Amino acid sequence: MDSTVKKQRTSMRLDRYLSICSPYPRSGIPGLVRKGAITVNGIPARTVKDRVSTDDRIEVNGVPMLYREFIYLMLNKPQGYLSATEDERDPVVVDLVPEEWKHFSPAPVGRLDKDTEGLLILSNDGQFNHAVTSPRKCVYKRYYAELDAPATPDDVIAFRAGMDLGDFCTAPALLELTDSPDKVLIEIAEGKFHQVKRMCEKIGKHVTYLKRVAIGALQLDSSLALGEIRELTEAEKDMLTVSKTFS
Ligand code: URA
Repeated sequence: MDSTVKKQRTSMRLDRYLSICSPYPRSGIPGLVRKGAITVNGIPARTVKDRVSTDDRIEVNGVPMLYREFIYLMLNKPQGYLSATEDERDPVVVDLVPEEWKHFSPAPVGRLDKDTEGLLILSNDGQFNHAVTSPRKCVYKRYYAELDAPATPDDVIAFRAGMDLGDFCTAPALLELTDSPDKVLIEIAEGKFHQVKRMCEKIGKHVTYLKRVAIGALQLDSSLALGEIRELTEAEKDMLTVSKTFS
């Protein structure tokens, strides 16, 4: 996807190039070169020390290895997975990343609870992570929540006013009522631990089901089944950092 292809031309050794943007470990590259499996602009590579540039077309067994430093993935997170890269006890969202992207070492951008479903971004771009998750950037996250009791217009006002949750006060948040009073849409700017659930407890309601449906201006792709992952386009990546304020 052209969004993630690095635009500046950079030169480096062939084995470094492939360690960044192929699933092959660096130690396996000499063997691939010997077998003639690697081509640079259609010509078999001679040694792992060959200099290549990000403009070159590098293929391994005929499969192009596009150069990019960063990866941006959208996951429809299922329940039962921790938003982490590893855990001794529970499965983690990185377990769901297909092999073709694993070597980029993507990590969750923000966090969803183990029992929360929906939109989770994974990336290895730390600056981007900060731009999406920092409360100061005012990137709102939108959730669909099912409650154990109907929400009321007073609850809408309480969300809008911002809430004192003891350890911090939330920014103004949106509670949108739907045709079913116990099913609501919620938008928050921060991503504190259990924030949506805690805000709902504060208005006397318990969340029985939670799904993140959007971050910034980016909606969860409804064609992604639970547990499925795909890369973001450039335009989608930009939509993730769209901010707003509630007056
Ligand atoms: N708020 C919560 O309470 N849980 C989540 O997973 C996300 C936001």
